[in-house]
Amino acid sequence: MYYEMAPMEGITTYIYRRAYFHYFGGIDRYYTPFISTHKDKALSHKELQEILPEHNEGMQVIPQILTSSAQEFVKMAKELAQMGYTEVNLNCGCPSATVTTKHKGAGVLENPKQLDQMLAEIFEKCPIQVSIKTRIGMEQDWEWEDILEVYSHYQIAELIIHPRVRQDFYENTPRLEPVKAALDKLQCPVSYNGDLFCVGDVKRVSEQLPGLQACMLGRGLIADPGLVLTIRNGANINKDTLRAFHDEILEEYSRVLSGEKNAMYRMKELWFYMSQLFTEPDKYRKKIQKAEKLAVYESVVNRLFAEQELVDPDCNRFTF
Ligand SMILES: Cc1cc2nc3c(=O)[nH]c(=O)nc-3n(C[C@H](O)[C@H](O)[C@H](O)COP(=O)(O)O)c2cc1C
Repeated sequence: MYYEMAPMEGITTYIYRRAYFHYFGGIDRYYTPFISTHKDKALSHKELQEILPEHNEGMQVIPQILTSSAQEFVKMAKELAQMGYTEVNLNCGCPSATVTTKHKGAGVLENPKQLDQMLAEIFEKCPIQVSIKTRIGMEQDWEWEDILEVYSHYQIAELIIHPRVRQDFYENTPRLEPVKAALDKLQCPVSYNGDLFCVGDVKRVSEQLPGLQACMLGRGLIADPGLVLTIRNGANINKDTLRAFHDEILEEYSRVLSGEKNAMYRMKELWFYMSQLFTEPDKYRKKIQKAEKLAVYESVVNRLFAEQELVDPDCNRFTF
C-alpha cells in the first residue's frame, strides 16, 4: 500500500510538507494544494514557491491543477514538465461554490460529456502523466456510473477517489461501493481518500477494497502527523517530535511571510486539526485562535504541551 498526503489549500504548503518530511516521512506521494490556471498571467510568487524543485527536495511531489480549460491545463503542465515534473494532477473534487459555479473542481463532474471532451484534449496534448483526484458526483451517487465510464477512456496515471458527492461537502460517510466499481472497471491504479483518521480506518478500507493501490490522508494526518508511521510500523508520535515539527513550521512561516500575524494565521489553521491530538484541547485552542501577538500564541502553545498529554490513537479521537 502506498500512502499519500492529501492536498489541503492553506495547510499542506511546501513549508508544511518540508517540515513533515524532515520529522516524519513515510509518505510516498505529496500533492500540492491546487494551483489555478490563468489565461495570460504567469504563475504568482506564491504558486511558484509551492513547486520550485528546491522547495521539494527528496519528496515525490505532484502538482495539482484546478481548471475548466484543457488548453490552460496543458500550458501549465508544459511549464511543470520543464521544471522536471513527470506527473500532474487534475482537481475534480473541490466543492466550494466559487469554484464549482465556474465548472472547476467538482463542477467538472456536472456534465460528463464536457468532462470527456476536456480529458480528450488533456490526454492527447499533455507531455507528462496525468492523475485525477475526484469526487463521485455533484449531487447523487448514481452520477458516478457515467463519470466512471468517462474515466475509463483514458490512461490515467492514478485515480484518487474521495467517495462523496459535492453536495456532501465533508458531511455523510464516504461510500466504498463507488471505489469498488472503479477497481472493477479501470486498469489504472486507484487510491482511496476520505475520513482515514486511525490505523483501524486504513485497515478496514484496505480489507474491503482489495486491489487498492494507495490511501490518501488529509485531516487525520494533519491532526496526527505521526499517523502514517503508526500505520506502517506501530510507532506513536511523541510530544518532543511534535513540538520540534511545530517550531520548524512556525519559524519558516515567520521567515517567509511578512509580519507575525500572517505566520500565526497559518499556525491557527493547523491547530484546528492538531489540537485534537491533545487531551482537553478546547480552552487552549480557543486561546490560540484569539492570540494577536506571537508571544501570547507561544505561551499558550507552551502551556498546551506542558499541561496536556497526547491522546491514544484509537478510532474515535477526531471530530472535524
Ligand atoms: C482546508 C482544506 C483544504 C483542501 N484543499 C484541497 C486542495 O487544494 N485540493 C484538493 O484536491 N482537495 C483539497 N481538500 C480536500 C482534501 O484533499 C481531502 O480530499 C478531504 O479532506 C477528504 O480527506 P480526509 O478525510 O482525509 O481529510 C481540502 C480539504 C480541506 C479540509
